[in-house]
Amino acid sequence: MNVFYSFQWTVNCWPTMRLKSNPMGVWSCVAIVLMFCDSNALFKFKNIKCTCYEKSFCELKRCELKVLGRGIVGLFLHAQTHQLPINKSTCILSLYRRFNGYRPFLYNITVDICSFLKNRKRYPFVDLVYDGIRNFSNVNHSCPYNHDIIVNRMVLNDNMIVKVPVPSGFYKLMFILKTDGIWRGEVEVYVEVNLGYDR
Ligand SMILES: *[C@@H]1O[C@H](CO)[C@@H](O)[C@H](O)[C@H]1NC(C)=O
Ligand SMILES: *[C@@H]1O[C@H](CO)[C@@H](O)[C@H](O)[C@H]1NC(C)=O
Ligand SMILES: *[C@@H]1O[C@H](CO)[C@@H](O)[C@H](O)[C@H]1NC(C)=O
Ligand SMILES: *[C@@H]1O[C@H](CO)[C@@H](O)[C@H](O)[C@H]1NC(C)=O
Repeated sequence: MNVFYSFQWTVNCWPTMRLKSNPMGVWSCVAIVLMFCDSNALFKFKNIKCTCYEKSFCELKRCELKVLGRGIVGLFLHAQTHQLPINKSTCILSLYRRFNGYRPFLYNITVDICSFLKNRKRYPFVDLVYDGIRNFSNVNHSCPYNHDIIVNRMVLNDNMIVKVPVPSGFYKLMFILKTDGIWRGEVEVYVEVNLGYDR
């Protein structure tokens, strides 16, 4: 297929992509659009907010996004914990999509962190998120936790979003943490998914 021909296809592609009745057509269009528009990241950090409900339990030393290089944004989080060790902890992980404000979307999972770490396959979505974080953090070990929680220079890569079936848009991923039966704090991470096509 010559370049001129594929360019024609790209131009004709946008309306075709909305035709759900023609899956073959959709996929060939997607492939070509990606060839032409591959330069931008598909998946970007936009903002982060952290809240510690009670200073006597935890304190946030750091909670920010920082530009590390051209188009590369790193996430930094350092939560100091005053009551160690953490033997048992529950997390609610929920996804929101922006649509006249952020609305709950697809995932809202309550997970016991220590049992999750023993058997990650039981919670596929949590496992995807954990997989994205663990290389950049000191949480990558089984319970108990005897130290501050640190995430350092976490970056996103496009492979992470390929496995999650979400359309382009703005999302918020919210973590709410409970230990010893008390809600301790929350982290909200805002991301943009821009696939360059609809799915
Ligand atoms: C956590 O476990 C350790 C030993 O395994 C124990 O000494 C400590 O009291 C426990 N902490 C809580 C809050 O249950
Ligand atoms: C998620 O589930 C928890 C526990 O079932 C519930 O308390 C919470 O309100 C839910 N959050 C959303 C955004 O639906
Ligand atoms: C984490 O590190 C492992 C081993 O170095 C690597 O194979 C994997 O792709 C990394 N994951 C992420 C999300 O960076
Ligand atoms: C920690 O991460 C490494 C590589 O990223 C992995 O091989 C190892 O199994 C992880 N440990 C736990 C307890 O998840």
